[in-house]
Amino acid sequence: MEVIIQSSSQEASALGARLVARLVRRKPSAVLGLATGSTPLPLYRDLIRLHREEKLDFGAVTSFNLDEYLGLPPAHPASYHHFMRENLFRHLNIPEENTHIPDGLTTDVPAFCQAYEEAIRMAGGLDLQILGIGGDGHIGFNEPGSSLVSRTRIKSLTPRTRQDNARYFSTEDEIPRHVITMGVGTIMESQEIVLLAFGEGKAEAVAAAVEGPITASVPASILQLHERATILLDEAAAGDLRRSAYYRWIYDHKPAWQEI
Ligand code: F6R
Repeated sequence: MEVIIQSSSQEASALGARLVARLVRRKPSAVLGLATGSTPLPLYRDLIRLHREEKLDFGAVTSFNLDEYLGLPPAHPASYHHFMRENLFRHLNIPEENTHIPDGLTTDVPAFCQAYEEAIRMAGGLDLQILGIGGDGHIGFNEPGSSLVSRTRIKSLTPRTRQDNARYFSTEDEIPRHVITMGVGTIMESQEIVLLAFGEGKAEAVAAAVEGPITASVPASILQLHERATILLDEAAAGDLRRSAYYRWIYDHKPAWQEI
């Protein structure tokens, strides 16, 4: 696990975008795992810029999103289908048929989840998964207590996560209680993982995930067992880390061949 602390979310996101760009240049048919929420937005803006200014080509890329609310149609402004279309897909040349997001309107959740897992496998598996982190340590919508080997399935949101996402809905009642999410085990099979976290609201979860015990109570802590996980933080999100001076030293003294 490599922890990189930058002075702003923009700088940390630019590093994340460079990791994605490096992969897509090396492997034009890369399979990306994508997240929604406020965290990946600056990274997505950077990818759009790289596509426009440096002709970064997404024409052969495939993507799988982490999650979607159950019961929301794709056109709903708070759906993750809508989020991805508006904030990323419509600005890139990624073919629509190559983009996959769990179907919030499926009438057979277990069959859909199995098919989603199968589609990831058929695409050759995830090359790089982008993650945010919940204030409670969730990744995807794998809330505390989720099995660390779980696969794509239905999950119930905790009251805290519903509250955190309330800003996207007009009434309390509208906030979905159920989601389909890739499992922790699904995420862990990605060849590479890039987790971003910004703001002091994430500091406690980041410290627990990076320096705490590996536990289902903090699903993101399983990333300690991943061979290629990069944690990109701004100063505020790094605020509770005990070894932050060490992480900074490592980053400042990276040999040139290891630079991002
Ligand atoms: C979103 C997702 C979630 C978010 C997390 C943080 O697809 O899987 O795990 O990454 O809830 O959300 P933000 O970025 O809005 O703070």
